[in-house]
Amino acid sequence: MDLHLHVLPGLDDGARDPAAALEMLRGLAEAGYTHLVSTPHADDRRYTYGPERITATLTELRAAASTAGLSLRLDSGAEYAYGARFHDELGARSLITLARSHYVLLELPEEFMPAAMPTVLFETGAAGYYPIVAHPERCRPFHDDIPRLVALTTGRALVQVSFRSLAGTFGRTIRKTAWALVEQGHADLLATDCHSPRELPKIVRPVLAELRERIPARRLHQLLTATPNRLLSAA
Ligand SMILES: [Fe+2]
Repeated sequence: MDLHLHVLPGLDDGARDPAAALEMLRGLAEAGYTHLVSTPHADDRRYTYGPERITATLTELRAAASTAGLSLRLDSGAEYAYGARFHDELGARSLITLARSHYVLLELPEEFMPAAMPTVLFETGAAGYYPIVAHPERCRPFHDDIPRLVALTTGRALVQVSFRSLAGTFGRTIRKTAWALVEQGHADLLATDCHSPRELPKIVRPVLAELRERIPARRLHQLLTATPNRLLSAA
């Protein structure tokens, strides 16, 4: 199961068009995925569409996938950037959640850690949501300070590490931090964060192969399948 990817066509910087989206779905199905929760970016400047447009795009993609003979289960959510929109929708209790669960996907700023972050995560929980922090390995403040990430998220949020970071897309430091999070047991979830069909041969398949070499099978099953399944069924 994948709880973070950008396969809904034409919404954000993910799949460019329906053909690209179908190619991604086919590649992910071949790689063993059976359930995908697409998470288009949501912020207050560039990606301002609301849940109606996301759902309409999801409905079209589901129809196209079934016409193409793909039997994947498809749902949607959103990947919130930390900022005003997240704050407003949290206040209004109108956050877009993952597959209508209580889980919300939130990415943190990459260059600094807002002082209010522990409070924001706590308030998100207090409002009845469960935050999942998307690819915290990309946040500079945690590169040499994994304990700082653990202190921020323990009891407040789940940690989701991305395949793109594990593959080295963002350089050696982020790759090293991502693998450290996985190998030291601080990652709760793994997600492809796949943006394009080109990432199937370049990122998704090689990272799956490397994970199978480096991570015990039981633990890997937890990160890729059991935990995401449990989150969506519990909520
Ligand atoms: Fe993403």
